[in-house]
Amino acid sequence: MPAFWHWFVAVGTILFIIWCIWLIGWSARQGPQDKSDADLTGHKWDGDLEEWNNPAPKWWLYLYFITVFWGVGYLIAFPGLGNFEGMLGWSQEKQYEAEQQAAIERFEPIYAGYAEMEFEALAENPDAMKLGASLYASYCTTCHGSDARGAPGYPNLTDGNWIWGNSEQQITMTLKQGRNAVMPALAAALSGDEAIDNMVTYVRSLSGLVEADEAAAAMQPKFVALCSACHGMDGKGNQILGAANLTDDNWLYGGTAEDVRYTLVNGRNGIMPPHGELLGDNRTKILAAYVYSLGNGD
Ligand code: HEC
Ligand code: HEC
Repeated sequence: MPAFWHWFVAVGTILFIIWCIWLIGWSARQGPQDKSDADLTGHKWDGDLEEWNNPAPKWWLYLYFITVFWGVGYLIAFPGLGNFEGMLGWSQEKQYEAEQQAAIERFEPIYAGYAEMEFEALAENPDAMKLGASLYASYCTTCHGSDARGAPGYPNLTDGNWIWGNSEQQITMTLKQGRNAVMPALAAALSGDEAIDNMVTYVRSLSGLVEADEAAAAMQPKFVALCSACHGMDGKGNQILGAANLTDDNWLYGGTAEDVRYTLVNGRNGIMPPHGELLGDNRTKILAAYVYSLGNGD
């Protein structure tokens, strides 16, 4: 909190507490000392029901003072007065971290037990995969969706189609170190709108979306020169680079002419962030097996 707001909150709170104490003293002096008709407030209901201006009852006063002193004590012990951290040193983050630590200590032996299993056996173990599903729900749904079916730019993990590969080693690497796909912008290299349109048609013909006309078919040497280093001579892609297979009907960014054109002109740069440090080895292995089971299930 900036210094101004710290003082604003701290001074405001203290003045308010002083005002609360002053208010009760002041109102105690306002009350009538002994009862007479003059102490009626003048409010009258149902003909004879009248309101007296009596002092507040003792029990109520005590409750009021207890509340005020409780508040003061609380502000001394816990954070509340601007940036003042409180004498007990409690904070939300510390409590959260302690709970996290306790959870890790509780579950780590279970994770470690599963992590000793052989990868494919792990992927077929229903209890381990329940754990995998809950880890997935905590760490992966924001990008890959709660059903793991992804979205444009975020791969579907259930379709058996692997950009970076599905061996234990490849999935583990994807999770631990993350992946950074680099599809360069090639508008300049393709020189001219017509060449771009023809290349779009050529690319879409590889997966049978369109029939390549003569002009598009003539882009084949250009494809070899510009694209094959990453996507392969046959356009089937390269898992080491995360370069998409262009011959299947699986599109990370969409297969319409507009989508493919956008990819060629602007490039694409899909980033799977590294999770190794966050997850640790045991949880990474369980999650990797879970992801493997999603894309290789029935
Ligand atoms: C911030 C978004 C984000 C988060 C969080 C995220 N991913 Fe990814 N992930 C991506 C993107 C984007 C790609 C594709 C990168 C590319 O373009 O090749 C990807 C790729 C992958 C791949 C490779 C798929 C293939 O076909 O080879 C796997 C496996 C994967 N993610 C699993 C996970 C798991 C498990 C988690 C949770 C621990 C996770 N991801 C969390 C964005 C994310
Ligand atoms: C330097 C390597 C490299 C070169 C050169 C390259 N690409 Fe790519 N391309 C990639 C990578 C990596 C991806 C995946 C991008 C991502 O996941 O964000 C990709 C993605 C694509 C996609 C999107 C596929 C999808 O599923 O949505 C198309 C289309 C494509 N490239 C076509 C081409 C064409 C056509 C050329 C040549 C004119 C070319 N690329 C040249 C590396 C390359």
